[in-house]
Amino acid sequence: MTGQLATASGECIATPPALLLPPGKLVDPGDPEWAAFARSWDDLPRDTWMADGGTYRRRRYAVFEVAGGKCTRLPHRAHYQERDHNPLNGGVERWFAPMAENQSGSRLFQALVSGTAALIADASAQGPSSWTVEAHQFRIEALSGQPGLPPPEGMHHDGRDWVLILLVGGSDYAGGESRVEDGSDTCILEYRLTRPGEALLLDDRTVHHGTTPIESAIPGASAWRDTLVLTFAQARES
Ligand SMILES: [Fe+2]
Repeated sequence: MTGQLATASGECIATPPALLLPPGKLVDPGDPEWAAFARSWDDLPRDTWMADGGTYRRRRYAVFEVAGGKCTRLPHRAHYQERDHNPLNGGVERWFAPMAENQSGSRLFQALVSGTAALIADASAQGPSSWTVEAHQFRIEALSGQPGLPPPEGMHHDGRDWVLILLVGGSDYAGGESRVEDGSDTCILEYRLTRPGEALLLDDRTVHHGTTPIESAIPGASAWRDTLVLTFAQARES
């Protein structure tokens, strides 16, 4: 894939290893299944594994195997990151509530995962690969005078091969600007996802990423930001 710069309209894909994907590229908010998919973010339990004691994150989690164009959910299990990748919350097995079966099995979600795998194959000039895909539904909440931190660990690698950050929705909030840096800590992309269905696809092996805190844009009101994060790791031969 040849590199392209993002245009002001956001209709163009930025250069690998950080791709900016407009709504409709992977998932269309006009899809009849989108409303129920986005509404499922209203039913996320609080993340009780926050080493900073924060109560600003809600989430659900699921793991899949993607091979031969087929996406299969695997038995529920703990999420684990090395401390090198997540000094704040890594180094321990964290158990999160499972993603609802009716969402993970939906046509929309299955197409989203398969479409992302196809884009990765295109962007990395690789043939079809088998992937272990982890799905994280996140809601970050901000109360009046109390910001919410999308990644409390700051700039980081997820410790996988590719990462998709898809904006699902949110209320009136300020902040939430994503930043991507290369191996020399040079910023290669700064972008605020604003449109549901808009996404960043990152080569996690070569770039690291972070997102600025969110705050309520309306004094005295709470605010939230909903995202879906999909991580792709090449499945090991067993
Ligand atoms: Fe991340």
